Amino acid sequence: MSVMTKAAVLVGVGQPLEVREVDVDEPHAGEVRVRMAASGVCHSDLSMQNGTLLTPTPIVLGHEGAGVVESVGEGVTDLVAGDHVVISWVPQCGSCYFCSRGQPELCETTAMSVAMGCLLDGTTRFTADGQPLRQMTAAGTFSQLSVIPAISAIRIDPELDLGVAALIGCGVLTGVGAALNTAQITPGDTVAVVGCGGVGLNVIQGAAIAGAGEIIAVDVHPAKLDLARTFGATAVVDARQRDAVSGVMELTAQRGADVAFEVIGLQQTIDQTIGMTRRGGQAILVGVPRMDAAVNVPAFFGVVLAEKTIRGCWYGGADVKRDVARIIGYDRDGRLKLDQLISQTVALEQVNEAFDALTGGEVARSVIAY
Ligand code: APR
Ligand code: ZN
Ligand code: ZN
Repeated sequence: MSVMTKAAVLVGVGQPLEVREVDVDEPHAGEVRVRMAASGVCHSDLSMQNGTLLTPTPIVLGHEGAGVVESVGEGVTDLVAGDHVVISWVPQCGSCYFCSRGQPELCETTAMSVAMGCLLDGTTRFTADGQPLRQMTAAGTFSQLSVIPAISAIRIDPELDLGVAALIGCGVLTGVGAALNTAQITPGDTVAVVGCGGVGLNVIQGAAIAGAGEIIAVDVHPAKLDLARTFGATAVVDARQRDAVSGVMELTAQRGADVAFEVIGLQQTIDQTIGMTRRGGQAILVGVPRMDAAVNVPAFFGVVLAEKTIRGCWYGGADVKRDVARIIGYDRDGRLKLDQLISQTVALEQVNEAFDALTGGEVARSVIAY
């Protein structure tokens, strides 16, 4: 049965989200309907609203969520109503070329659905005034109820706080995964992290778990740099006060970092991140840039002679089933600080204010509690 629910809808690029009643249908085969408990407000949501990331509209945004399965569609055998789940924003089919080669974050069966904001059959279960609504990355977590592919619902222990669980779905998987899956951090390495927001702080925590020696945090907000220290940074560079590259060079005997991460998505900071990577080191690009941003590196001095590796990182290279379990394990062992990522809890109606706080660089994460 179709039911009414409250959701935050992007009607057109550049417009504030409209929080309104929408209809959500029952789950079809291979889908589940989830009653959302919490959703993080990630920079990628804001990037869709402000046009940095291209998206069809109207669309229910939100891709970092957790909740409780309310009903399951035909053929869903591994989930039942009442299960607590983290929502993965990359449905991973488990059998395509990439999934069978250990790179399920690149799943080719589901990539088009993620890009187009629909479920795996190319439609969604959301409508408003009889018109279909898309849902960001087949998730659409800015809604009290959402229908998602069953493979996007990762069952977790019901003991885990669902506010924290929501953040695992994007910021934690991406950041910790960038450090543990994408980069090859050798114990003792010097790591630089450019951008210490909800994702960057998790890169810092992941680098600490990987055994990094020095972790240099780079940001333009002093409060973020203080926060970065509590997450494991051993040195900081305030990029508002000085040049980020020379700041990192000074801290690394002019050699550069063994591994440097870009976790903002700006062409300027991508250049800086590659520039502060030592010869033979790795620059890992995590932030999602505008579609027209380019990586400009001189082939000889920048790559061949410098022997630098420039690696992209999508969703932290996550195998979601394996990595959600692994992250919960690290949380239990006290190796991750997940509670401290939550700067403020807000209502769905305050989603536009949460966007403003993110634009202002004031928060690690705002979490919508339903
Ligand atoms: N130099 C250094 N730090 C900067 C700069 C700059 N020029 N500009 C912004 N920052 C800092 C901000 O102060 C903030 O702390 O980058 C951080 C970005 O964090 P958030 O806005 O919280 O973004 P987050 O959700 O962490 O996402 C980061 O990853 O998933 C992608 O789309 C997402 O591209 C985005 C990136
Ligand atoms: Zn995100
Ligand atoms: Zn696949």
